[in-house]
Amino acid sequence: MLCVDNFFTGSKANVAHLLKHPHFELMRHDVTFPLYVEVDEIYNLACPASPIHYQFDPVQTTKTSVHGAINMLGLAKRVKAKILQASTSEVYGDPEVHPQPEGYWGRVNTIGPRSCYDEGKRCAETLFFDYWRQHRLRIKVVRIFNTYGPRMHPNDGRVVSNFVMQALKGEDITIYGDGSQTRSFCYVDDLIEAMIRMMATSDGFTGPINIGNPQEFTIRELAEQVIRLTGSQSRLTFKPLPADDPKQRRPDIGLAKETLGWSPTIDLAEGLERTIKYFRGKL
Ligand SMILES: NC(=O)c1ccc[n+]([C@@H]2O[C@H](COP(=O)([O-])OP(=O)(O)OC[C@H]3O[C@@H](n4cnc5c(N)ncnc54)[C@H](O)[C@@H]3O)[C@@H](O)[C@H]2O)c1
Repeated sequence: MLCVDNFFTGSKANVAHLLKHPHFELMRHDVTFPLYVEVDEIYNLACPASPIHYQFDPVQTTKTSVHGAINMLGLAKRVKAKILQASTSEVYGDPEVHPQPEGYWGRVNTIGPRSCYDEGKRCAETLFFDYWRQHRLRIKVVRIFNTYGPRMHPNDGRVVSNFVMQALKGEDITIYGDGSQTRSFCYVDDLIEAMIRMMATSDGFTGPINIGNPQEFTIRELAEQVIRLTGSQSRLTFKPLPADDPKQRRPDIGLAKETLGWSPTIDLAEGLERTIKYFRGKL
């Protein structure tokens, strides 16, 4: 197993426990540059995923998705590897169809502050499917919906890590908008299981396939659960909603159930407990 990362948002500490494993190797590399290695399978997850990080250098974000996809697809073509792309529910934008099936084309702003991420990921999907049509590359595209868990960056501004950190520090919990916007939250172990199952599907199956937890919660409900599970005294404060923030987000995972025999096994309360334990240890 070769783990490639430029450590823009990731850290060596996150894989420290794997370094002694005889089959694990870590390499600092930026996927916007070509990579020459021997591999059988590629999981392309390289890309900052939280708005704070992907908006820090938006040009680099598009490059990571687009040049990164070109370089990883080039590698897969050279060594005849199977390749999986970590795409995103953001390809659906602010959807007018709910929940979103894979056949929905999305409603995405091309020129907004989130576009570097959304359009970068959309272009990466296009590249994957063109490599499949043009070069018969074995591709797998998974569209990931909000996923959380231990080893998230504590200050990356994502809703779960934000709320947990604020609750553990006894600070007010910041809700953008009135908290009635909904999200679905998938625990990381469920996502990994789905990606491994996807990689193992027959060559004819490319996706795209939605992976996420269809249980839908309002942001306010999430905040209240975090307060309850941390036993915090934190109160809720409300701030204006950022531009292009989707109002509703829930995966239709019918295809994943049918083709991967997969559905999430870890509910929000259990996943939050494990995540809270991790962040508590960090503080
Ligand atoms: N977590 C989610 O809710 C979610 C949802 C949809 C899609 N995804 C996708 O899953 C993948 C992983 O997301 P995450 O939540 O772990 O994000 P993350 O920011 O925690 O991890 C991204 C990783 O990619 C690395 N990286 C960034 N740019 C790179 C580059 N140019 N070259 C090499 N490495 C680079 C970072 O250092 C980090 O280790 C991303 O592609 C993301 O778009 C995540």
